[in-house]
Amino acid sequence: MGWGRYPMRLSGKWIVRLVALVVAIAVGVGAGYLLWGRAKDWYDVANPATLPAGEENDLIRYGHDLIVETAANIGKSARNPALAYAGNDLNCTNCHINAGLRPFSAPLVSTYTTYPMMTDDRVLTLAERINGCMTRSMNGKPLPEDGREMQAFIAYMRYIGLGSPEGVRVAGMGLMPLKPPAEDPSAARGEAVYAENCARCHGADGKGSPAEPPQVGYAVPPLWGDDAYNAAAGMADIRTAAAFVRANMPDGITWLDPMLSEQQAWDVAAYMDSKPRPPRPPAQD
Ligand code: HEC
Ligand code: HEC
Repeated sequence: MGWGRYPMRLSGKWIVRLVALVVAIAVGVGAGYLLWGRAKDWYDVANPATLPAGEENDLIRYGHDLIVETAANIGKSARNPALAYAGNDLNCTNCHINAGLRPFSAPLVSTYTTYPMMTDDRVLTLAERINGCMTRSMNGKPLPEDGREMQAFIAYMRYIGLGSPEGVRVAGMGLMPLKPPAEDPSAARGEAVYAENCARCHGADGKGSPAEPPQVGYAVPPLWGDDAYNAAAGMADIRTAAAFVRANMPDGITWLDPMLSEQQAWDVAAYMDSKPRPPRPPAQD
């Protein structure tokens, strides 16, 4: 239970610290200044649609499509049923907002440069990490590692991290830290927070709303029920859900202008967590 599901989060922090330390010592304050002094926004990446024609750029573009139109490409309702690897119709970008380019929305900017990652007991490759979201958040099957879809995800993540410091999780990676709740998170209080701030989009029943045909999937994604992330997903841990929601929801806010108090975020996360969702998949290793 708990953080054990995502051991790379803890180890990620350690890697950042270690790498930051080693880099600082190795190149000295001067060079460090060069690296950090540059006013570079690592989240400002050109849409791959603007890249010139070419095989590698096509793969990057396909990776971008898979992130923003996951349902149509590899979702439960995939246009090509042979590619229906996910068990629901969420899109990666529903959580990795703005195609993985929004700070504190589990962005994917430093992902390529920081994988493979050491976890407590083993090395986790990027393909394995992607399949972690495929089997939990997407409640589906793992993608074949040598398939075009996996290669496209990786090509896109490599592309958005190009030029960013190797081995460093840049500021804004992960989720915005929350203080431990002042009062125990309460699903009962969370129900009121939900009714006031979330239900108008996600619905009182948490089912979200479908996209306009011919698009497949959702205009607003579900938060619980058969088509939501499963019980093993990061979002099914209230610490993850509270941190994500505080910095990103209601849709339209960012971490710079949160709307909910921290306690409200904990409470609404407890409410979401009290609702039914697909079970944990059978243990795979
Ligand atoms: C204005 C409409 C709107 C409101 C209000 C809103 N959301 Fe969302 N929510 C969205 C949309 C749209 C997305 C997908 C974002 C994207 O794809 O860029 C989303 C994504 C999410 C996700 C991640 C995807 C998923 O399905 O699990 C969670 C969790 C979430 N919202 C929780 C909440 C909570 C809790 C509240 C209330 C505090 C809330 N939202 C309020 C529209 C809204
Ligand atoms: C329901 C929400 C949700 C959906 C949908 C989702 N993810 Fe995730 N993903 C997360 C969360 C939460 C984390 C962990 C963030 C953290 O703890 O820092 C994560 C982490 C990751 C990471 C590790 C990033 C890093 O640098 O550590 C990758 C890679 C990833 N997801 C890929 C995907 C892909 C590809 C898809 C679509 C096929 C997807 N995710 C769909 C919630 C989601």
